[in-house]
Amino acid sequence: MKKCVAHIISKTQLCEGIIDMRLRTEAARGARCGQFVLVFPNDPSRLLGRPLCICQAQEDCLRIVFRISGRGTQEISELHTDEKIMIEGPLGNGWDVSAAAGKEVLLLCGGIGAPALLQLAQDLCSIKGKENGPKQVRAILGYRDASMKAFLAEDFKEHGAEVIIASDDGSIGVGGNVLDAAKQEGIGADVIYACGPMPMLSAVKGYAREKGIPAYISLEERMACGVGACLGCVVKTAEKDGHSHVNNARICTEGPVFDASEVIL
Ligand SMILES: Cc1cc2nc3c(=O)[nH]c(=O)nc-3n(C[C@H](O)[C@H](O)[C@H](O)COP(=O)(O)OP(=O)(O)OC[C@H]3O[C@@H](n4cnc5c(N)ncnc54)[C@H](O)[C@@H]3O)c2cc1C
Ligand code: FES
Repeated sequence: MKKCVAHIISKTQLCEGIIDMRLRTEAARGARCGQFVLVFPNDPSRLLGRPLCICQAQEDCLRIVFRISGRGTQEISELHTDEKIMIEGPLGNGWDVSAAAGKEVLLLCGGIGAPALLQLAQDLCSIKGKENGPKQVRAILGYRDASMKAFLAEDFKEHGAEVIIASDDGSIGVGGNVLDAAKQEGIGADVIYACGPMPMLSAVKGYAREKGIPAYISLEERMACGVGACLGCVVKTAEKDGHSHVNNARICTEGPVFDASEVIL
C-alpha cells in the first residue's frame, strides 16, 4: 500500500474538538466499511501516521471524523480546504457485512467510535430486507453530554438506521452508556457491531457472551507503523496464531475489527 496525496475539500467542526474532513484521494477507491487510513501530519518531527477510520468513502472522496486528542490530530485539524496531506490506505480488515444477513443488527457507537460505524450503517441499510441484508438496523450512539451535539446521529438516520441517543449525564437522550440504553429500552439484537473506548468494548464483549449474541468490535488502540511490521499494536487472542504460535494479533493488519469472542480485553 503506497502513500498518496489527499486534497482537503471541506472541513467542519461538528462540536467542540470534533472535526469532520472530506478528502479527495485515490485511497477512497475500493475502501470497505471498517477500514482505516494513516494520516501523516506535515511536521517532520511527527513521522508516524495517525490511524483514522474511514467514516465514509465514495469514488475518490473519503470522509474522516476525528477528535483532537494530541499534537498530531491538532495539526491535521488546522489544515485548510485546498491544502494537501499524505495518507496511506485503505488498511485493515473492515466489518463482516455478511454476518448481518437476515439478522436484527445493533450498532453500538461510543463517542468517537461512531465514525467507524457510519459506512457500515449505510451499507447495511442499502441491503435491508434483501436476501443478503439485515432485517433491521438500529444504532445506539452514546455521548458524554449534550455539548457533543449528538454528532453524526442525523447521518445514521439519513441512511435509514433507527437511532437511539444516550448520554452519560442524561442531558440528551437516555441517561447512561450505550449498553444501559439497550437494556433500558429493551433493545434486542441477533448481531452486534461496536466501536468505542476499551471499557465499553469490554462490557459489550461480556454482554454479548452472556446473551449468546455474536459481536464484532473495532479496536482503536495506539499504533506505530500501522502496516504490520513493528508489533506495536498487538492484542491478546484466545487462540494461538497459526503462523507465529503466540496468542497475539496485530490490530493494524488482523484487525481493527475482531470477533469479540476471539480477543482478550
Ligand atoms: C484503527 C484506528 C482507527 C481510529 N479511528 C479514529 C477516528 O475515526 N477518529 C478519531 O478521533 N480517532 C481515531 N483513532 C484514534 C486516533 O488514531 C488517535 O486519537 C490519534 O492517533 C492520536 O494522535 P495525536 O498525535 O493527536 O495524539 P498523541 O499526542 O499521540 O496522543 C494524545 C493522547 O491521545 C491518546 N491516544 C493516542 N492514540 C490513541 C488511540 N489510538 N486511541 C485512544 N487514545 C489515543 C494518547 O494516549 C494521549 O493521551 C483511531 C485509532 C485506530 C487504531
Ligand atoms: S502498528 Fe506496527 S504492527 Fe501494528
